[in-house]
Order: sequence, then C-alpha cells, then structure tokens
Amino acid sequence: MRKTKLRPLLKESALSKDDLIMPVFVDENISSKQEIPSMPGYFRIPLSQISDEIGKAMEAGIRAFIFFGIPSSKDEIATSAFDDDGVIQKALRNARKEHGDAVLITDVCLCEYTTHGHCGIVRDGEILNDATLPVLGKIAVSHAKAGADIVAPSGMMDGMVKAIRNALDENGFENIAIMSYSAKYASAFYGPFREAADSGFKFGDRKGYQMDIHNSDEALREVELDLKEGADIVMVKPALSYLDIIRRVKERFNVPVAAYNVSGEYSMVKAAARMGWLDEIDIAYEILVSIKRAGADLIITYHAKDIAEVL
Ligand code: PBG
Repeated sequence: MRKTKLRPLLKESALSKDDLIMPVFVDENISSKQEIPSMPGYFRIPLSQISDEIGKAMEAGIRAFIFFGIPSSKDEIATSAFDDDGVIQKALRNARKEHGDAVLITDVCLCEYTTHGHCGIVRDGEILNDATLPVLGKIAVSHAKAGADIVAPSGMMDGMVKAIRNALDENGFENIAIMSYSAKYASAFYGPFREAADSGFKFGDRKGYQMDIHNSDEALREVELDLKEGADIVMVKPALSYLDIIRRVKERFNVPVAAYNVSGEYSMVKAAARMGWLDEIDIAYEILVSIKRAGADLIITYHAKDIAEVL
C-alpha cells in the first residue's frame, strides 16, 4: 500500500468546492473595497461591488455565501438590522439580480447593528434573551423577503431557532432553511472579525450567552435543543480548536453539520505565511481537510476562494 499512486484509492475523506461557504462583509459606508487590517487579503465590500465579488468567487467554483453587514446607522435596538432597505437586504437584492443560483445565507444577529455591540437587547447592562427573540424573527423575515435562501442565527439566544422558524412560517417562508450557530463558544478567535464587522461590544463580554470553552457535553445539549426547535443545519464554531465537538455532534445526531473556520484561525495562517514560516495554501488545505475529517459537511472559511482555485 506504499505506492503513491494508490493513495487516491484509499483516501477516506475529500474536500470539495461544494462544501465551502464564503463570508462576505458588506459595508454600507464605503465606495471602494477596504482591506481589513487584521485579515490580510480580506476586504469589506461596498454595496456597488457585491455582485462582482460574488461573480468572481462563483467563477472559482464557490456557490454559497454568508453575508455580514456593516450598517450606516446603529441604535440600542438594532433597527437597521430589520430595515427592508438595510445593508444586507440591499446586498441580497443586488446579488440575486445577477446570480440566481447562488446560495445566499445571512447572519442573523444584533451585534453589528447595536450601539452597545451585544447580540441581544440590553436593559440595565443585562442582555435580555426573551426580548431579543421577536427582533430575530423580524430580521430573518426581512432577509427572506430580500432573497436569502438560508438564515443563520448567531447570537446564541435560547429559543432563537423556534422564534425564527415561527416568524418565517407565518410570513410564507416555509422553504427558507435555518442554519443555527448552535455550539458557539466564547472564543478569543473572533477578534479580527469584530474589527472587520465593527461588532465589538462596549461593555462586559459574551460569556453570558456563548459557551464555555471547557465544555463539550453542553454543546450536545445546545445542538439537541436547536434541532428540536427546527434547525436544518447545526454549526460548531470555531472549528480548529473544536474538532472534537464537530465529531461528537456528527456522531450523535447525524444531521448536516457546519463548522466555522473563524477569523482568528485565518489571521494566524496569514501571519505565519507572511513571515515565510508556513505555506499558506498547503496549511489552509490541511486545516480544511481536518475539519471535514472531523465530520463537518460544510465549512465557512475565509480561505474559500483561494482553496477553490486550487481544488
Ligand atoms: C456575530 C458573529 C461573530 C462571528 C460570526 N457572527 C462574532 C462574535 O460572536 O463575536 C465571528 C466570526 C469570525 O470570527 O470569523 N454574532
């Protein structure tokens, strides 16, 4: 079995372009692409160029995109997140016009749209879980109206999947799927994203709603709840330090599992590559294969387009 030419026959897992989801940062405040300092090679995209960016990625073989918005206005209650003329809603319509068969996914959360930067409604310094749920429903419906195929709630509020499922169904969007950030850890790996999406919080931390990094059984309970509430795809996030969680979720539930290869994981690879210490593409490929091998069906990754080009 040592002959190199036998290897492809014996390969147990494979990475395909169809597994990859590319994150897109849409910024309503800019008119040309802006590189994100902590994420070299990754850009905030103005509304006018969204369709082009998607077109280029589709030429490389990427079919699925997840949108994050940087709105022109923020308030206490994330009004711009469910505005039918908000940044994501406009981006969806622009992208959909030219790319009918792209899979458009939206991150459903409050943190990019609130002045305090938290993922829920805040009163007296406390994040109010239940008061946040109807807002998430409204955001999901406005994304569906604007052309989203899948909505992805990322705020780790209890009951968010059920609230969104009900809101979508009541508004005639039974066929819009939900990919829930079910097991999302309170991780230090999100730092660059918060710079990219301008979603850092102004006080406290996210440990009240995101998971404790020490826990693994809890991830299974979170996933189980989301599946009962109607999640179609469950996500583990981050990916690389949580491969054990991906594996446990896949083995226990055998449902579509997504993994988010997050911003900090990307930045580490980029930094080492820039120093000439590691080969960027080889490392990115190995990381993505490890996430697949662990059991992920889908991977959200900032390496998507670069890897699609070499696959
Ligand atoms: C919003 C959200 C975050 C990420 C995805 N959606 C940030 C956070 O929870 O602080 C992080 C993605 C990344 O780091 O690449 N709730």
